[in-house]
Amino acid sequence: MKSAGTRYGTHRVIEPAGALPQAAWKVDNNLPIDPSEMLIDVEMLNIDAASFTQMKEAAGGSAEGVANLILDTVEKRGKQHNPVTGSGGMLVGRVREIGSAYDGPIQAKVGDSIATLVSLSLTPLKITRIKKVFMDRDQVEIEGHAILFSSGIGAKLPVDFPRDAALAALDVAGAPAQVYRLVRPGMNVGIIGTGKSGLLCAAAARKMLGNTGKLFGVVHIQSIADEVAKYGYFDEMVLADATSPVAVFEKMNALTGGSLLDVTINTTNVRGTEMSTVLSTRDGGIAYFFNMATSFTAATLGAEGAGKDVSLLMGNGYAPGHAEATLDLIRSDDKLMKLFGARYSS
Ligand SMILES: NC(=O)c1ccc[n+]([C@@H]2O[C@H](COP(=O)([O-])OP(=O)(O)OC[C@H]3O[C@@H](n4cnc5c(N)ncnc54)[C@H](OP(=O)(O)O)[C@@H]3O)[C@@H](O)[C@H]2O)c1
Repeated sequence: MKSAGTRYGTHRVIEPAGALPQAAWKVDNNLPIDPSEMLIDVEMLNIDAASFTQMKEAAGGSAEGVANLILDTVEKRGKQHNPVTGSGGMLVGRVREIGSAYDGPIQAKVGDSIATLVSLSLTPLKITRIKKVFMDRDQVEIEGHAILFSSGIGAKLPVDFPRDAALAALDVAGAPAQVYRLVRPGMNVGIIGTGKSGLLCAAAARKMLGNTGKLFGVVHIQSIADEVAKYGYFDEMVLADATSPVAVFEKMNALTGGSLLDVTINTTNVRGTEMSTVLSTRDGGIAYFFNMATSFTAATLGAEGAGKDVSLLMGNGYAPGHAEATLDLIRSDDKLMKLFGARYSS
């Protein structure tokens, strides 16, 4: 019988003993698989945006440099778990083998294309070759294998999406799913950062608000503000740098007549944006941190220091039904369908 530890992958943890695979420094990525596991031939990694941004900076913008950082991390840790940001990403590939005792939630057979919905930061991964680094979309084409535990969620790839578009959408599926839970008609809602997850959150928030409330988008570059405004989700685009908390607060304060935001959603991919999120939120409101470069201490101690009675919500990447809800959101919106199709076709 499978132990609880095997279900969560503790049998693959090399160090420190007793840790779960996400918290582990190093996991065993070698074959053969345990009977409780599923083996995947990996085709594409979708690196988490905070991690990719950090590696791009560290490599001075060089694709070869990013590839070397990924190879080094996977060699040292047995998984693509960025040691600086602590974040991972997701992958797509084909099922090569299903262990005789695998009883996980993924209904797939050998040969099926699937996307994992658990982080690369806990997924045993071996890379034999990096074929291409897509610098403009955080994706990396590789040859190699990954191992999924029985507890790991995943999804068969939808037939109506290009593979890499589905991968990109599923990577951030937790964010719009959470927006459906948090946003109610009549609210003032702010989205800081309007990239991939920010636009999905905006589309989800607009659906929840209908013609009520107000939706604000915080963007740090005018040309992006102009581009994003065309989607028609936002009532106001706010030009401000999320790493400048007082500037963001002053704009939000003025635009809301001092009432501030009921819900503020941080989808940026950089550090130092905690307090623009907290200060923009009214007392009793919710600051939702989807950004993986968020510091727990900066948010909590910063909120305390500013005397802000704001609920701080961490961006759990999982919510029941999040994958289908996000794909449905894109399907329901021609503009999103076009954006994802165009940006992520290989
Ligand atoms: N919680 C989870 O489970 C989970 C899962 C996946 C991803 N994530 C995280 O979610 C975040 C967003 O991911 P994504 O894929 O949506 O990233 P993305 O497409 O790269 O979007 C990030 C956006 O933030 C903007 N931004 C950067 N610095 C800014 C600043 N100072 N002020 C205002 N905007 C700024 C970027 O603009 P420019 O590109 O113009 O700089 C970009 O539009 C990342 O931190 C990622 O790691 C979390």
